[in-house]
Amino acid sequence: MALKKTEVKKAEGKLGILIPGLGAVSTTFIAGVMLVREGHSKPIGSLTQMGKLRVGKGEKARDMDIKDFVSLADLNDIEFGGWDIFEDNVYEAAMNAEVLTRDDLAKIKTGMSKIKPWKAVFNRKFVKNLDGKNVKTGKTHQDLVDQVKEDIEKFKKEKNISRMVMVWCGSTEIYQEMIPGVHDTLANFEKALKENHPSIAPSMIYCYAALDMGIPYANGAPNLCNDIPAFWELAEKRNVPMGGKDFKSGQTFMKTLLAPGFKSRMLGVQGWYSTNILGNRDGEVLDDPDSFKSKEVSKLSVLEQILEPDKYPDLYKDFYHKVTINYYPPRGDNKEGWDNIDITGWLGYPMQIKVNFLCRDSILAAPIVLDLVIFMDLAQRAGLSGNQEWLSFYWKSPMHTADAKPEHDLFIQMMKLKNMLRWLMDAEPVNSMGEETYN
Ligand SMILES: NC(=O)c1ccc[n+]([C@@H]2O[C@H](COP(=O)([O-])OP(=O)(O)OC[C@H]3O[C@@H](n4cnc5c(N)ncnc54)[C@H](O)[C@@H]3O)[C@@H](O)[C@H]2O)c1
Repeated sequence: MALKKTEVKKAEGKLGILIPGLGAVSTTFIAGVMLVREGHSKPIGSLTQMGKLRVGKGEKARDMDIKDFVSLADLNDIEFGGWDIFEDNVYEAAMNAEVLTRDDLAKIKTGMSKIKPWKAVFNRKFVKNLDGKNVKTGKTHQDLVDQVKEDIEKFKKEKNISRMVMVWCGSTEIYQEMIPGVHDTLANFEKALKENHPSIAPSMIYCYAALDMGIPYANGAPNLCNDIPAFWELAEKRNVPMGGKDFKSGQTFMKTLLAPGFKSRMLGVQGWYSTNILGNRDGEVLDDPDSFKSKEVSKLSVLEQILEPDKYPDLYKDFYHKVTINYYPPRGDNKEGWDNIDITGWLGYPMQIKVNFLCRDSILAAPIVLDLVIFMDLAQRAGLSGNQEWLSFYWKSPMHTADAKPEHDLFIQMMKLKNMLRWLMDAEPVNSMGEETYN
């Protein structure tokens, strides 16, 4: 990310949120924004709506609401548009997802029903367990890019939008590695678009369209998508912010809370066994081993970086880390996760910790989507471009340059985020030294 900023432009006019994938997470996010702005509910879980930050030192120190400290888009100024392979409008999709109650959805039925998915760019090779009819056709990938751009232009005009952000809430695509000659440079990627190269995933087509139009892009799933050099190049060329991957919502959120704690006390970890049951459509897609591989790689990456076994071999050398997800329809979106953590204390004596998280997948993810789109829009108004490393707080697998290590520790991520907001507003960073209390 280029660390240069301009004065933060005010959030004026409407912000359009473009969403490939109108499933459980995105409909819960959209419904939530509507319920909050109509005064039915509170935006619990959202830092942009409920968070505060400390500004100033000593006697002048005060806590401010983040949204008063820096100009952020108002929920009343948000419009939604999106694509899905199924024709259901957003109200119907939310009813099918069974995350929110019928009573809650009834309160916003009119607004939700008006949002109808545009035809999707889809290829079953990348999501094997799904099939739908609401799909675009085109001779080449380039044709599909042009169609996505047309959808966006039409939406912008119809809704009188000033700024936009795209957030991928589509299904997890199969695991893919960066392919030299296709994904490595912008020129190669653009050539591959025209030549219809089979290694260009649908998510990349949406992402290319967005970045090329100067629209920030956030990748909520673990698939490769924007984490390719071609898109890093495009984001810099168009001076547009982006980020990813994979919303850090449930089990991995807990991991990045607990692991820094063990390490701070120099407690050892011998093994961390994590398993989940999940019965929503995401669970069905992840039942395919190739899609699960994308998720597994994302979920496994966090502990290694936090525990740093190379630096602390007596504590973490050869720790065993296992993650599984089992598709179990009766639970729907109400995922249950179990963690068994084998830790060691003084003189190497073993202990165990069990975590049983009975969570709601989309309830945890929705406020993350909201914060990401609001902060991506802020980044753009501040003139930031490329990967927004300060938003690592929200990602299971934060994107990073080849020579940098990703930061996974939730508390360091939080400090980075808040100090970035202070930096944008020319306020001093807070390092919690408490130096103003020492003489
Ligand atoms: N807590 C969480 O729920 C959580 C956390 C991290 C990441 N995620 C990721 O977020 C994504 C969405 O999760 P969800 O629970 O809403 O899943 P979901 O299955 O309910 O919704 C995904 C939607 O994307 C649609 N879709 C698939 N391919 C598409 C394409 N090419 N274009 C347009 N639409 C497409 C599907 O039809 C579906 O409606 C998944 O990739 C999931 O892994 C979710």
